Amino acid sequence: MKDFSVKLFDVIIVGGGIAGKMLAHRLPASMSIACITKEKHVSNSIIAQGGIAAAIAPDDHPVSHFEDTIAAANAHADIDRVNLLVTEGSKSVQALIEEGLLFDRDPFGNWSFGQEAAHSKRRILHAGGDATGKGIMDFLEAKTDDKLSLLTNLVVVELIMIDGKCAGVIVLDSVRKKSRIYGKHIVLATGGIGQLYENTSNAVIASGDGISLAYHAGALLADLEFVQFHPTILQLSGKSEGLISEAVRGEGALLIDEDGRRIMEGVHPSLELAPRDIVARAIEENYQKQKKVFLNAQSITGFSDKFPTIYRNCLHHSIDPLTENIPVRPGAHFHMGGIRTNEWSETSIPYLYAIGETACTGVHGANRLASNSLLESLVFAERAAQMIQSKINSSYHIVNDEPFQERTLSSLPSIEEMKKMMTTFAGIIRDQAGLERLLDRLRPSFEQLSATNFSDLAFPMLKIAHFLTSSYLIAQSALLRTESRGAHYRSDVENPDDKWSGKVIIISKDGCYQ
Ligand code: SIN
Repeated sequence: MKDFSVKLFDVIIVGGGIAGKMLAHRLPASMSIACITKEKHVSNSIIAQGGIAAAIAPDDHPVSHFEDTIAAANAHADIDRVNLLVTEGSKSVQALIEEGLLFDRDPFGNWSFGQEAAHSKRRILHAGGDATGKGIMDFLEAKTDDKLSLLTNLVVVELIMIDGKCAGVIVLDSVRKKSRIYGKHIVLATGGIGQLYENTSNAVIASGDGISLAYHAGALLADLEFVQFHPTILQLSGKSEGLISEAVRGEGALLIDEDGRRIMEGVHPSLELAPRDIVARAIEENYQKQKKVFLNAQSITGFSDKFPTIYRNCLHHSIDPLTENIPVRPGAHFHMGGIRTNEWSETSIPYLYAIGETACTGVHGANRLASNSLLESLVFAERAAQMIQSKINSSYHIVNDEPFQERTLSSLPSIEEMKKMMTTFAGIIRDQAGLERLLDRLRPSFEQLSATNFSDLAFPMLKIAHFLTSSYLIAQSALLRTESRGAHYRSDVENPDDKWSGKVIIISKDGCYQ
């Protein structure tokens, strides 16, 4: 492990997914760039299956992609940002293709566009069948490896703040040593929050670190109550064992109950391709009645070629999707909320940026349209790169290195207990009583943590600190929104309420407001 006692970089990127890599790709090689990750080659991006939505087919247009994105967002998207997403997104994808990024083609050599729920057209580009994230990551890593200082096995425990500006990060290494790394520009690209829940499609690193870091530094957070649950995650012995892409339903797979009945009949006219929140709730309601749900994909021709990753994973778990039904259950998949950013990916703290899933750009509203997340990462990483380059003359801010303390707080809840409570009380179906119970349990610890520098926490507490902060803030936001909208479904207030229309819940250390 290198000694980081005095490390200076032009740009520090926290996180190793597509957003961070795209940013590095678009920054000039003359800049010194650090990329800090908890684990090398572990991210939600690398396991992303379905693909990337881009209106590049001859019969498609960004306006159609715009309309689909807005419709999925349940009257909660930021219209100007969606416009940026679809117009700059298709250009961004085209540019990467021209640089050599490969997507799958049909037998005639044309792009093979997949279909996913709530898209009015086949516009999902994919690579390696269902290994799109890996395809894009491999491409971007090859482009950026020489430019980046890769600092792995490090957890960022706190942002360094000097005179209200972000000046660097404090990291914990694998031998539990803490050190400071300084940067002119700090970019949080830490990914999602799926690991706060028992069932999830997310990688092990996705436990809301960015939200917690930004919150404790004083940044504004937005839309935290909107957590998307993906309907179909392979479910075995009560555990999530990998995503079964929506593209499988796009190709005709059916959702059936234990008696072979189609569970989406009578629920929504689009059946298996209804919006994700509706499909996820329909499946979860079966589980709450102790009934399992399965995906029958046996009618799909060429399944193993179209979905090689899913096929291998099913076989690994002794299920042959060509002849057997696949047991599925919804799990936390994507966080629409996050660190509030402007159109240039700047947070409310000078020199602190957020890109990818940890950011809330406003493009997803209350429910993200499938395959818009990789696109968002590309677009807003490119915008961050432009903004950083426009501030080329920024300087370092460095403080005298104070020694770190080893503070222990009185008993914090365990990760297992928090996951269970988040799943039960802040999951697919929520209500006031459950959210209050969750908040009451977490509040004493949250208050202790809020009064402590995370860099002074002893190791076992550090493992819990970000997890607890993000869980608490999501529950707080979910309690405040007294309506159901998109992925935020409250059984005590089942419908959208006009008085909430267009209102964004902002949370910061200074309080909450709409
Ligand atoms: C999937 O492949 O179903 C996930 C794609 C997405 O969430 O955008």
